[in-house]
Amino acid sequence: MDHFHYQGNQLHAEQVPLQAIAERFGTPCYVYSRATLSRHWRAFDDALGTRPHLICFAVKANSNLAVLNLLARLGAGFDIVSVGELERVLAAGGDPGKVIFSGVGKRADEIERALEVGIRCFNVESESELARINALAIERGVVAPVSLRVNPDVDAQSHPYISTGLKENKFGIDIEAAEAVYRHAAEQPGLRVVGIDCHIGSQLTSLGPFIDALERVLLLADRLAAQGITIEHLDLGGGLGIRYTDEDPPLPAAYAAALSERLGARAFEVILEPGRAIAGNAGVLLTRVEYLKPTPTHRFAIVDAAMNDLLRPALYGAEQEIVPVRRPDPDPKSELRPDSTPAPVADQAADPNTRPTPSPELYEIVGPVCETGDFLGRARRLALAEGDLLAIRGSGAYGFSMSSNYNSRPRAAEVMVDGDQAHLVRRRETLSELFAGEETLP
Ligand code: LLP
Repeated sequence: MDHFHYQGNQLHAEQVPLQAIAERFGTPCYVYSRATLSRHWRAFDDALGTRPHLICFAVKANSNLAVLNLLARLGAGFDIVSVGELERVLAAGGDPGKVIFSGVGKRADEIERALEVGIRCFNVESESELARINALAIERGVVAPVSLRVNPDVDAQSHPYISTGLKENKFGIDIEAAEAVYRHAAEQPGLRVVGIDCHIGSQLTSLGPFIDALERVLLLADRLAAQGITIEHLDLGGGLGIRYTDEDPPLPAAYAAALSERLGARAFEVILEPGRAIAGNAGVLLTRVEYLKPTPTHRFAIVDAAMNDLLRPALYGAEQEIVPVRRPDPDPKSELRPDSTPAPVADQAADPNTRPTPSPELYEIVGPVCETGDFLGRARRLALAEGDLLAIRGSGAYGFSMSSNYNSRPRAAEVMVDGDQAHLVRRRETLSELFAGEETLP
């Protein structure tokens, strides 16, 4: 459940109308709901109840400082994949003792900084990385807490670009080979083995693959225990999916219940790294229709957000719901409009609060970027006029954090709503910031 809803005809974030946010901060603009973020984080935390656990928000999903600070205040840990994410967590007041460092390519300087601030655990993805962490820890005179990220060869049944737990993926250490690597790790003076980690993919909509992975991880934990290597925690990664359109993913409570049932009385601390399930439906991307452009084959609605702001539709063919900020009054005649000729455009640009409601039509919602793949939604039935505001739902995760300056477009503003207040939590990038770090030749 989220806190984006219509009051009358107007879409609100909590108690604030999105139209007021667009007027105050401009578009395109990301809008997050504090109540939704808190609710989703608590859903995970409560679901694991009294079982020892730590919910580490995957910072890559949404790395805005206000989001991280809010979660830190709730007691969250953080899953990071770069020193940049680590610095964000620290700047947001996160506890380094609750930070898990994932990722296949940790540089020496990144490992050193993590050792310096004393993170909770490195999720190690290769033997070379293990050797590097050991050497750096010895050099500093510390012992690095490590977990091996094992690749359990489980099909997450998600999009191939976001499935990570198959043998052919670059992630993790083959679960069959992991035992020997653990034995080696346990003998290194710079390392302390503390856990087993796996992350099989993202946007999973069923529990089966999670449970398969857990079972494989438990077998490994048993084999390690038999050799005197004690595992303190199991980190099962992130990956729980959300509803974008008509998916029906399990809730955190059902996920946690299934894990608990399988774990029984085993005393492992459970670490989870959810990103999307916490932030995804806690944010929308607010955008305005610039032009309606009927062509012989399509009706294009060209909006002021683009693939540089929200890459998921272009990159994965992802579908996210697109809804009007001002919901049209129901008009049975226009719903039934039978002809397929494009609606006249020129007479539609009027004050959205007084103009007659246009007919619903099938629109391609596209941005201004010079790529055919720059679409945000395809074949969406909407009643649109130029100047209308739209909200692209499910944009709180992998939205702003994947945005770029492609086509020299400044990155969007980010706003967090808290009850009846809207706070600017990242101002829109300025044009001069676009090339502030660049130099011409002497
Ligand atoms: N832990 C690790 C090690 C990960 O690689 C990821 C995501 C997560 C946790 C969080 O997964 P989540 O709970 O958010 O599913 N850009 C893609 C998603 C890429 C996910 C990468 N890893 C998208 O927009 O769908």
